[in-house]
Amino acid sequence: MTNPVFERLSALAEPFRVRLLRVLAREELAVGEIARVLQSPQPTVSRHLKQLDAGEWVLRRRVGTATYYRMVVEALPEEARQLWSVVLAGVEADADAASAWAEDLRRLDGVVAARVADSAELFRRLGGRWDDVRHELFGDTFVLATVAALLPPGQRFADLGCGTGALLPVLAGAASVVYGIDREAAMLEVAAQRTSDLPNVELRQGQLDALPLPPVSVDVALCQLVLHHVEEPGRVFREVARVLAPSGRFVVVDMVEHEREEYRDTMGHRHLGFSLDAVRGFASACGMRLLSWRAIPADPAALGPSLFVAVVGR
Ligand SMILES: C[S@@+](CC[C@H](N)C(=O)[O-])C[C@H]1O[C@@H](n2cnc3c(N)ncnc32)[C@H](O)[C@@H]1O
Repeated sequence: MTNPVFERLSALAEPFRVRLLRVLAREELAVGEIARVLQSPQPTVSRHLKQLDAGEWVLRRRVGTATYYRMVVEALPEEARQLWSVVLAGVEADADAASAWAEDLRRLDGVVAARVADSAELFRRLGGRWDDVRHELFGDTFVLATVAALLPPGQRFADLGCGTGALLPVLAGAASVVYGIDREAAMLEVAAQRTSDLPNVELRQGQLDALPLPPVSVDVALCQLVLHHVEEPGRVFREVARVLAPSGRFVVVDMVEHEREEYRDTMGHRHLGFSLDAVRGFASACGMRLLSWRAIPADPAALGPSLFVAVVGR
């Protein structure tokens, strides 16, 4: 007969089973739920669970047709508990395993959230982890559509230097027409694929200092992360003043002044960001005014310099 210590060692010698046990030490889960948390096929999960069950690492509970598994460390035999604490300490000290574990926990929260019927209980339980669950369940891009719905409907937008057109579908939801303008055919091709089912998006190839738009044809012009590429931004402002309706707005999003000289060589930047005074100067030189300027709180995950959003009008 095999000495049980070798069976226990063998059960914990597989990283997947250790991950599985860590999750089950947190939460009682059905096989399908475990599969979602660990992003593994159910047969794989079942195979590993079978071995853990045989070694009495997990407790089983049947509810109707479903079986739920959990690990109760306190209920393990003394030697198994000691072995588990050694393995756990080793895994917790491993930086790579730490980020994978954080991902497992995020998915675990999502799985548990999906089955908690009472929302008050759900939010009490999640607290500050709701942001992660929201990201897990819905991603982040829908927030743009939420904010776009706040815009007054029926306006004419122009996205100047639209690039691959990430903003065009968002703007299209609130606009009568959205012009996406860029000088690069390769960018416009991607934008065209992205907006192929949006009849109110018009893509036009052209330069920002000679906009392919008639006078007074736009209510809101947007220039996001483009102006620092333009040799003479004042010429773009002049063109915007030509195409903008009298009550129109020009929204500029760009980097605040910074000192990353290397961006000139690595990304062809012509300007190392812009100060409030510089934007005010461009506006007043073509008969417009800087109406507002706001620093955008830096995204903790972002590596680039801070951004600002400026609104220019008459
Ligand atoms: C950094 S990308 C930004 C794209 C988009 N606005 C965004 O926020 O993702 C800059 C875009 O501006 C375009 N661009 C730069 N200078 C331009 C100019 N003078 N006229 C037209 N497009 C220009 C480039 O082709 C590129 O697609």
